[in-house]
Amino acid sequence: MCGIVGIVGNREVAPLLVDALKRLEYRGYDSAGVATVRDGKLDRRRAEGKLANLDRRLGEEPLAGHVGIGHTRWATHGAPTEANAHPHFCDGVAVVHNGIIENFAPLRTALIADGAVFHSQTDTEVVAQLLAACRKQGMAPREAMQQTLSRLEGAYALAVLFDDQPDMILGARSGPPLAVGHGQGEMFLGSDAIALAPFTDEITYLEDGDWVVITHDHHEIYDHSGQRVERKSQISQGAAYVVDKGNHRHFMEKEIYEQSEVVSHTLSHYIDFAEGRVKFDSAQIDFANLDRLAMSACGTAFYAGLIGKYWFERFARLPVEIDVASEFRYREIPLAGRMAALFISQSGETADTLASLRYCRDNGLTIGAVVNVRESTIARESDAVFPTLAGPEIGVASTKAFTCQLSVLAALALIAGRARGTLSDEDERRCVQALVEVPRLFNEILAAIQPQIETLSRELARFKDVLYLGRGTSFPLALEGALKLKEISYIHAEGYAAGELKHGPIALIDETMPVIVIAPHDRHFEKTVSNMQEVAARGGQIILVTDEKGAAATTLETMATIVLPVLDEIVAPILFALPVQLIAYHTAVFMGTDVDQPRNLAKSVTVE
Ligand code: M6R
Repeated sequence: MCGIVGIVGNREVAPLLVDALKRLEYRGYDSAGVATVRDGKLDRRRAEGKLANLDRRLGEEPLAGHVGIGHTRWATHGAPTEANAHPHFCDGVAVVHNGIIENFAPLRTALIADGAVFHSQTDTEVVAQLLAACRKQGMAPREAMQQTLSRLEGAYALAVLFDDQPDMILGARSGPPLAVGHGQGEMFLGSDAIALAPFTDEITYLEDGDWVVITHDHHEIYDHSGQRVERKSQISQGAAYVVDKGNHRHFMEKEIYEQSEVVSHTLSHYIDFAEGRVKFDSAQIDFANLDRLAMSACGTAFYAGLIGKYWFERFARLPVEIDVASEFRYREIPLAGRMAALFISQSGETADTLASLRYCRDNGLTIGAVVNVRESTIARESDAVFPTLAGPEIGVASTKAFTCQLSVLAALALIAGRARGTLSDEDERRCVQALVEVPRLFNEILAAIQPQIETLSRELARFKDVLYLGRGTSFPLALEGALKLKEISYIHAEGYAAGELKHGPIALIDETMPVIVIAPHDRHFEKTVSNMQEVAARGGQIILVTDEKGAAATTLETMATIVLPVLDEIVAPILFALPVQLIAYHTAVFMGTDVDQPRNLAKSVTVE
């Protein structure tokens, strides 16, 4: 959940470290720091809060040196103060760390008993202390690293600098990703390839348990047993992307507007537009011979999976077992018979999703992954990778990744339906035609509903609680709407299956609790209208998100009715995501919150 970077350079590295950290800020942004080694001395600058504070600090007190490490933090152990900000120093050793050292408490106790003095509340500092203790015993850096790593439990990526090694950084990976970047007479370490994109596109990913030594022109990788190993380098696509907001106020807004284009790219990977059919050869999973599909993910990706479940069950008659990854991994689900597993993740690094994947792999299942970062750990550990071509998603609130995930899942459900003989040619062509129209509809719907939602959001911003309701595939969208609103506007919001209303949440309904109802005119519509009646009868205010048919069919008084065109059922959730995203976005903008980097969150959740 933190971002780390290291550079063995041939120029001043502090500005380069900050540049790389800017590209990693999505991983955490509650404090940041950089350290360099120069003339046998370590020096550092650290600052609470956003990276801009560190940048300012470096402007006032520049940091010289050609070799350095940097960190942007999402606090786990200890408040986001300067004292807890990385790099942590101990007797000539500097450490930055992403992840959690699970046995830090006994290690810390033992180190204190041996006379160590700690200066922070972090788990990271035990790593610096252990390395320093090894060096004091006369160990060379490599030996100290190997010895220290053997004592650590948990998930971590590390970068380490020594005051007596002016041309060397050590890195290690156990869980969270770490990449080596190969430059011209310079070498780099980074949490991902995008961080290193300004410097190089030639990347070597460390595997779990690996550690690495980098110098100006050289790198050596060792596995957990200390054996020298070779890992292949590759050309990363991270460099191809320009990470800026263009003429948008926020990355989130830009990413909402990009959906037409990225969904189009994604669909073209799975759909033969000329033939009007799905690309059967993109299946990679033998759907015809499955009895069950297990699916798992976290947050927004989980809601995409929930919608996918409806599609797989409807179009392919394939039962889907789905759960949030933090539960899935510990449920001890019996995974017998003809089963495959599908994991969904924008980052491809989410710790719980990865653990669920490994559980399924250990049980012998074929693993598929719907991922946005093709070089991610989840992608690399899967048998079949189903890419979403969303490009880097920088806003912490997921938008374009979600609709791309839905696009992939819709196509896969059709592919599975065709493989299993449960989808007629005619239905396949109808669904594909509907999907083909999605990119155009994105633009048209955006233009049509954006001004109305901007106005509505000003009203919504007055409320403390909001309820979202939906049935069928609109139920997961209701969950997504509530998640989106709470994470960026901090308004309390809950999503419910509309049919659950009278089993509890109806007790909350009064004029202070607006109810956002997502109800295209599908086979559930009449039932959802009954639920709206129940809300209206109790003084609740309704915001209805529906289509032209639905709007014509309801006479209920609403606070607002947002009207989309009539859509085929397979594309409705993809396009109904737009009003859901816009409501959250405009409400948050009106309230003045930090839309792209909401409090307490991070983009990539690489800890449990
Ligand atoms: O990278 P992933 O798709 O695995 O991330 C999963 C969730 O952490 C993510 O979707 C999160 O819920 C978003 N902040 C929601 O907007």
